[in-house]
Amino acid sequence: MAYPYQIRSLDEYKAAYEKSVNDPEAFWSSVAEHFHWRKKWDRVLEWNFKEPNVKWFLNGKLNITENCIDRYLPEMGEKPAIIWEPNNPEDRVRVVTYNRLHKRVCQVAQMLKNNGVKKGDRVCIYMGMVPELAYAILGCARIGAIHSVVFGGFSAQSIADRLEDAGAEFIITADGAYRGEKVIPLKNVIDDALIGNRTVKKVIVYTRTRTAVSMIKGRDVWWEDEMEHAETQVEKGGVVSFPAEEMDAEDPLFILYTSGSTGKPKGVVHTCAGYMIWTAYTFVNVFQYQPGDIHFCTADIGWITGHSYIVYGPLAAGATSVMFEGVPTWPNAGRFWEIVDKHKVNILYTAPTAIRSLMGFGLKPLEGKDLSTLKVLGTVGEPINEEAWHWYDEHIGKGRCPIVDTWWQTETGGTLISNLAGVTPAKPSWATLPMPGVQPVLVDENGTEITGNPAAGNLCIKAPWPGILRTTYGDHERCRKTYFSTYEDLYFTGDGALRDEEGNYRITGRVDDVLNVSGHRIGTAEVENAINMHSDVVESAVVGYPHDIKGQGIYAYVICQHMHGSQDDMRQNILQTVSRIIGPIAKPDKIQFVPGLPKTRSGKIMRRILRKIAEGESHNFGDTTTLLDPAVVEEIAKGKL
Ligand code: WT7
Repeated sequence: MAYPYQIRSLDEYKAAYEKSVNDPEAFWSSVAEHFHWRKKWDRVLEWNFKEPNVKWFLNGKLNITENCIDRYLPEMGEKPAIIWEPNNPEDRVRVVTYNRLHKRVCQVAQMLKNNGVKKGDRVCIYMGMVPELAYAILGCARIGAIHSVVFGGFSAQSIADRLEDAGAEFIITADGAYRGEKVIPLKNVIDDALIGNRTVKKVIVYTRTRTAVSMIKGRDVWWEDEMEHAETQVEKGGVVSFPAEEMDAEDPLFILYTSGSTGKPKGVVHTCAGYMIWTAYTFVNVFQYQPGDIHFCTADIGWITGHSYIVYGPLAAGATSVMFEGVPTWPNAGRFWEIVDKHKVNILYTAPTAIRSLMGFGLKPLEGKDLSTLKVLGTVGEPINEEAWHWYDEHIGKGRCPIVDTWWQTETGGTLISNLAGVTPAKPSWATLPMPGVQPVLVDENGTEITGNPAAGNLCIKAPWPGILRTTYGDHERCRKTYFSTYEDLYFTGDGALRDEEGNYRITGRVDDVLNVSGHRIGTAEVENAINMHSDVVESAVVGYPHDIKGQGIYAYVICQHMHGSQDDMRQNILQTVSRIIGPIAKPDKIQFVPGLPKTRSGKIMRRILRKIAEGESHNFGDTTTLLDPAVVEEIAKGKL
């Protein structure tokens, strides 16, 4: 059996779950044994949620790249690790074997060393979906540098904030990135981000689009030159090597910034051993991966889904992972199906927003595409509506592929609640059962656990699993406050959920001020801050509203001091401001100009009312007696877009 820790039946799931809860240390040490350790751990787990302090596999020593690459070289060096599908269908596909991946990662590690990067240094990576992005991530991991990947849709200002927060001294980027018919000038954005920056010493620039870039002497170097030089250093007599840094199990592996209810994104920190075991374990079990299967996760590596289920999870399991540079609808809406056909994909993992958008193109794009290799389908990022679930099931899975609805978060490292493909039962639009090691609880507003079924409440987790975040970079108190202080001794997810008679969970969405737009997490406070930076804006309030394709759309109520030009001009200016401050992904779908906002006497905006209006409610706003000026509500409702 390829994966001794793979669960193969409902009974095995029940047994594994029980053991994981009754004796987590024995359970996880029996999983961890199937990984490569330089030195085994002294203790499996130490934790409390008060501080919080969570440590897994204490004093264990390892390097994640030896687990993701080196250990597979003797038996399957020529097996594809990454199959890269370029944006432009006419471009050449690249098949990266484990041998080739090893060589490239060693070269990157050497290149980083040559440029002064050391263990513990923070390296910001701002690239498109090219194999070099995976090499960069793994090259950092090989020398113990902490990578912080920033999604290509974030603005210079967002990058600048993240560089500063992480104290990053190095950047790896590209001249540009292809995204459908667009070219994103990545290096130019980095140049803007670096105005006023005091920490960055080196910028390594990979050539992808031949976009013109300004290379600053002493700071900017070309990836190609550096890699060529590194090649001669790591390759001696036909043998490639670059010794991997010995890392402690709890050394940080990476930082990934994510939005919350405050204006400033936080740097979620994951560590080496726990994250590795969690991503590999969930990958193998949720998707029921079998050796030789081709796994295609359509996410961008700029988000946690790409980190965990394009790079680390699949590679730690010795799998073949498809990496797609483009977008689902360019040059046509048959792109995913063409990739499935061309690469004989067995597992397809995508987001409900993509499914809904592709549904809109009808069945024509599916014509002539052979999807018979598909065995398992997956969704992630937001609740999937039943209509999309059934379309996916019927037209993509042809009624014979289990669909896994995987609920998790940047903070959880990997999937916490999901059915296991073909092993535990699916239920349309329900994430269903917790993974072994995960103990969900539902609580009411006061933090009292709601027992019995069915139930509805706020979703918390009782005990740590190996992939839980350890801290938020540079501010542990913020981590405690955000996740561990709302309810005593519980990790609070920020989501609401239902539980049915069988103990299945259905995630109903965020209960905090976080939006989920096309599966991307955006804080309302962040968008408000950006809008408020516009010189003509006095105040704003941002809420989400149901959107047919995106899941949630962004609705902004804005008070202007005076209107510069027409309302439409003003709207364009605000959109431009948000693009500049956060990035195009945070642009509001609707901007309504209002004379005032519904506030309580203590000055708190009553978002509940604004949400109702954005949802299309025109009368029943609930209790408005505590409002300072109840009349403003009518006026806002009248002007609804
Ligand atoms: C939030 C986390 C997990 C990687 C992508 C998003 C929502 C995620 C599901 C699902 C319902 C889901 C939650 C969660 N979410 N998966 N299967 N069903 N909701 O990661 O950006 O950290 O966002 O996405 O609201 O809290 P993220």
